[in-house]
Amino acid sequence: MLEDIKEILISEEEIKKKLKELGKRITEDYRDKKDILLVGVLKGAVLFIADLIRHIDLPLQVDFMAVSSYGASTESSGVVRILKDLDENIEGKNILIVEDIIDSGLTLSYLYNMLKSRKPASIKICTLLDKPSRRKVKIKVDYLGFEIPDYFVVGYGLDYNEKYRNLPFIGILKEEAVKVAN
Ligand code: PRP
Ligand code: MN
Ligand code: MG
Repeated sequence: MLEDIKEILISEEEIKKKLKELGKRITEDYRDKKDILLVGVLKGAVLFIADLIRHIDLPLQVDFMAVSSYGASTESSGVVRILKDLDENIEGKNILIVEDIIDSGLTLSYLYNMLKSRKPASIKICTLLDKPSRRKVKIKVDYLGFEIPDYFVVGYGLDYNEKYRNLPFIGILKEEAVKVAN
């Protein structure tokens, strides 16, 4: 697995430091709020949300959504199919959507609008990575870990063909690895 990585873009230590900062900011911002619900977007955000909540010093709930974009294309079509919805009603709750990466923004834009229509008290977005150069729809990110250039990155939850999610860092995939996996 490591032999497929060209370069470590964000190390385990850098991620850890960022999680502490984000957790502290979220704790301060949500201190006076009740009914806080963090919504992790499966599967990419699993590692991020699991580590992030350990740095949020407030009572909160966690739930997950699983989504999939239609079509065989690697580019998201913007039409998102819900594979797993939230377990509970979110009306009146303070929602923080937790994503691993925003690329075109189509997945999150759809999700945000859908959750917003369920009348939460508030709704914000937290993402570990952002690739603004690939954006197709405008998204307001409230909590950002790292802005990155348009590299194909894997690790810390992010996959290529479902592989590499368990790497503890964010790495750039070698081009040969992309070809082999295809
Ligand atoms: C990836 C990533 C984001 C989304 C970002 O998920 O985890 O959820 O794509 O892309 P976008 O901004 O262009 O919509 P993916 O659909 O690969 O599913 P996964 O999380 O299970 O890997
Ligand atoms: Mn995802
Ligand atoms: Mg993926």
